[in-house]
Amino acid sequence: MAEQDAKPSGPDLSRGVAFSELADGGMLLGHVGDEQVVLARRGAEVFAVGASCSHYHGPLAEGLMVGDTVRCPWHHACFSLRTGEALAAPALSPIDCWSTEQRDGKVFVTEKRAAPAKPAPRLAAKAPDRIVIVGGGAAGFAAAEMLRREQYKGGIVMLSSDDAAPVDRPNLSKDYLAGNAPEEWVPLRGDDFYKDNGIDLRLGKSVASIDARGHEVALSDGTRVPFDRLLLATGAEPVRLPIPGAGPGQVHTLRSLADSRAIIEQAKSAKRAVVIGASFIGLEVAASLRHRGIEVHVVAPEKRPMERVLGAAMGDFVRALHEEHGVVFHLEDTVAGIDGRKATLKSGGTIDADLVVAGVGVRPRLELAEKAGLTVDRGLVVDAFLASSAPDIYAAGDIAKWPDPHSGQAIRVEHWVVAERQGQVAALNMLGLRHKFDAVPFFWSQHYDVPINYVGHAEKWDEIAVDGDIAGRDCLVRYKLGGRTLAAASIYRDVASLQEEAEMERSVASA
Ligand SMILES: Cc1cc2nc3c(=O)[nH]c(=O)nc-3n(C[C@H](O)[C@H](O)[C@H](O)COP(=O)(O)OP(=O)(O)OC[C@H]3O[C@@H](n4cnc5c(N)ncnc54)[C@H](O)[C@@H]3O)c2cc1C
Ligand code: FES
Repeated sequence: MAEQDAKPSGPDLSRGVAFSELADGGMLLGHVGDEQVVLARRGAEVFAVGASCSHYHGPLAEGLMVGDTVRCPWHHACFSLRTGEALAAPALSPIDCWSTEQRDGKVFVTEKRAAPAKPAPRLAAKAPDRIVIVGGGAAGFAAAEMLRREQYKGGIVMLSSDDAAPVDRPNLSKDYLAGNAPEEWVPLRGDDFYKDNGIDLRLGKSVASIDARGHEVALSDGTRVPFDRLLLATGAEPVRLPIPGAGPGQVHTLRSLADSRAIIEQAKSAKRAVVIGASFIGLEVAASLRHRGIEVHVVAPEKRPMERVLGAAMGDFVRALHEEHGVVFHLEDTVAGIDGRKATLKSGGTIDADLVVAGVGVRPRLELAEKAGLTVDRGLVVDAFLASSAPDIYAAGDIAKWPDPHSGQAIRVEHWVVAERQGQVAALNMLGLRHKFDAVPFFWSQHYDVPINYVGHAEKWDEIAVDGDIAGRDCLVRYKLGGRTLAAASIYRDVASLQEEAEMERSVASA
């Protein structure tokens, strides 16, 4: 993602702007010295905060103010305008806050405030001594970070079967795979973070079983780790194709940093790739490989890519977008077998390829929960507080099936932001605070220079209402059932997408 232009733009806010220039609920981008600052007005109050989102530097002035928060236009992070705190992922670090002064009908930005004093701990009287997190991904990391943000002083052990510390997984199929992002951008935090925050991160450690009654997990190397509260955040694993020649050595899947590295390594000498599956990940891989100049063939059984999630018109757009970039689709077809460099299609054709990547969906990692006797129903069933059926055991992320107040259904999704936000809420609840998880589901996907944002959750609909022009890459597409908007996908309509999200939040809050 491109950073904002380094040259400061807009008015010099230290010299003041007329209060009347600021609409109530509106934002104005300006600068103080070399630093870009956003002024935001709420009634008689005016806030000043850093202009760049701490996630991927999204331009906050182009986002949306909701109450005393500002929402990032790119991936919907939410910051407090009062303190700069990152209230909702994917941003995990605060933004700067500046002091303002009002006199003679003008607003002046005076100085950058020191980092806000940490709020008094909100911990319940008896915080647990030991919290164990199984999983070093989005949900596990966000939980650990939130526990320390809340000034939890007890022990945190994070067990991850991955050899790498928590990474920015969405990057693995996008800029990192395309060669646009160096590897140092991929870890969510440097090694010091874990040391400085007393997080006992144990990598390459697989949990083999959970003794729910005895409050203990057992690792596959025999080590036992006791817990007072346990968070299960084991994520999902790529489905492997049951076809001849599609073993791990022959066909890549993509979940971990190691997977992405392996694809990059082979891509260095590859001329032609077959991507099996027209899923989000499959097509992001296709885009990244095209960026590397590799010929890409996508083989998938559906008639249109992404039709099940985004509908026919968006599916056609996604296909056309990839074709414009040279991707060759083999739709309504599947790979029947792979023999060395040759992929044989069910329709009879063959494609010679020196790289094969499968993106045919994922399966939640539920074995631990099942073996421990927790309630599982195509997801680890949790309540509104993300608590499982066993006392003191919580779940978050791709494995969790929670009662979503927006759709009124118990759902399980595979979205980065949802996983992080669930990790954060589970952290608060493990500390004895009672927070319902009621965030509106959100995901984004990126294909070449086209981002697709999606808020809400619609498994079926009876109407798709398109506002704008899908082919013109300027649209908000609403998925409705019985006249009610369940979800909205957008391309370059960031504010409209944020407004849909805020509307969904309001309707649940007022229910
Ligand atoms: C390449 C890629 C790109 C993506 N892009 C996007 C995107 O653009 N937008 C979006 O919304 N979503 C995206 N996603 C989905 C998103 O990354 C997931 O929804 C999110 O990572 C889920 O978080 P999680 O914590 O549940 O699981 P994960 O992040 O997968 O973490 C699970 C962790 O558990 C560990 N683990 C599993 N089993 C055990 C065990 N028995 N013992 C110990 N540790 C264990 C794993 O090693 C891993 O560290 C993408 C996913 C991938 C793979
Ligand atoms: S850049 Fe702001 S949420 Fe991603």
